[in-house]
Amino acid sequence: MTTNTRQWLLNAHPRGRGIEDGDFKLVENPLPPVGEGEMLLKTHYLGFDPAQKGWMENIADYVAPMNIGDVMRGSGICEVIKSNGGKFAEGDMVFGTTGWTEYLVHNGEGLTKVETELSPTAVLSVLGTTGLTAYCGLFKIGKPVAGDTVLVSGAAGATGSVVGQLAKIAGCRAVGIAGGPDKCKWLVEEAGYDAAIDYKAGDVKKQIKEQCPRGVDVIYDNVGGTILDDMLANIATGARVVICGGISRYESGGMPTGPGNYFNLIFRRASMAGFIVLDWAAEFPAIRKRLEGFVADGRLKYQEDIQHGFEHAPETLQRLFTGKNRGKQMLKL
Ligand SMILES: NC(=O)c1ccc[n+]([C@@H]2O[C@H](COP(=O)([O-])OP(=O)(O)OC[C@H]3O[C@@H](n4cnc5c(N)ncnc54)[C@H](OP(=O)(O)O)[C@@H]3O)[C@@H](O)[C@H]2O)c1
Repeated sequence: MTTNTRQWLLNAHPRGRGIEDGDFKLVENPLPPVGEGEMLLKTHYLGFDPAQKGWMENIADYVAPMNIGDVMRGSGICEVIKSNGGKFAEGDMVFGTTGWTEYLVHNGEGLTKVETELSPTAVLSVLGTTGLTAYCGLFKIGKPVAGDTVLVSGAAGATGSVVGQLAKIAGCRAVGIAGGPDKCKWLVEEAGYDAAIDYKAGDVKKQIKEQCPRGVDVIYDNVGGTILDDMLANIATGARVVICGGISRYESGGMPTGPGNYFNLIFRRASMAGFIVLDWAAEFPAIRKRLEGFVADGRLKYQEDIQHGFEHAPETLQRLFTGKNRGKQMLKL
């Protein structure tokens, strides 16, 4: 039985700048004994989320602050190696916020058993935070109606790709904004988006007007900044603007420029709202079942980008900010 574990610790708060290698420190620490009601877990996969940058900065108050020397916070899929009367049995696979550590001792609180017909990694991707975020943001805030035009930024990512497909299931026209011709091709040919806009090809505002001639009924924004502003320029009357994330800010660390076109919310009698997916945690089991059903009947496709090797965790996180990831970013240990 292992007595030590390698861990990535937070070594600096990346405020006002992008993430750097020196923001993390790889250490080897002794494991505490497995107490009564506790379990020894071995991490098999880590899941990566743009929000981790915000956690490192302590920019948001919906999670506890991170201190220098803390094990880097993040999601994982772990196997129960030893159970001392713990919540799960030896051999069970569980997932939750387990952090960047190869092994950990845990009492099971906040962890969920992996139970899915799909591959186990789906609990971090299409059935994980990104799939749940897509579902909750779209249906609870965006409230799409059949025939609506739904415009998604960050559309080829783990969250965005699910949003467009759910919009199609709801009978909407889905238009996605992504970086580069390959991602745009994937959006239309694989994910079933009706049209894709390459923001790297320039004049996003004009491209949106061309692809959404009757205006946009639901904006699902993962990016913020100038892309949000360009989307606001073309909203339809009664539009709902869902603020899911603002990844264009995360790397610079600076405050995003305010959306100059926000006055359109008045002219178009539109609403704009943000959300934190955790607020619907009680509904996650039921939503996971629905998403699993859509995958099973072929209406929902998902991509997973699985890198390898615990020592590559920091650079794997950075892939989200350079757009290198193709779907849900994960790391196999
Ligand atoms: N509100 C919530 O509760 C909640 C929960 C989970 C996630 N989120 C948010 O959901 C969004 C998507 O997260 P995800 O995990 O699914 O990541 P993801 O979309 O799979 O990956 C991030 C993508 O963002 C794009 N990107 C990076 N920098 C950009 C920039 N400067 N401008 C435009 N696009 C940029 C890249 O795609 P391109 O190659 O297309 O640029 C990259 O692939 C994030 O904003 C995240 O914070 C919110």
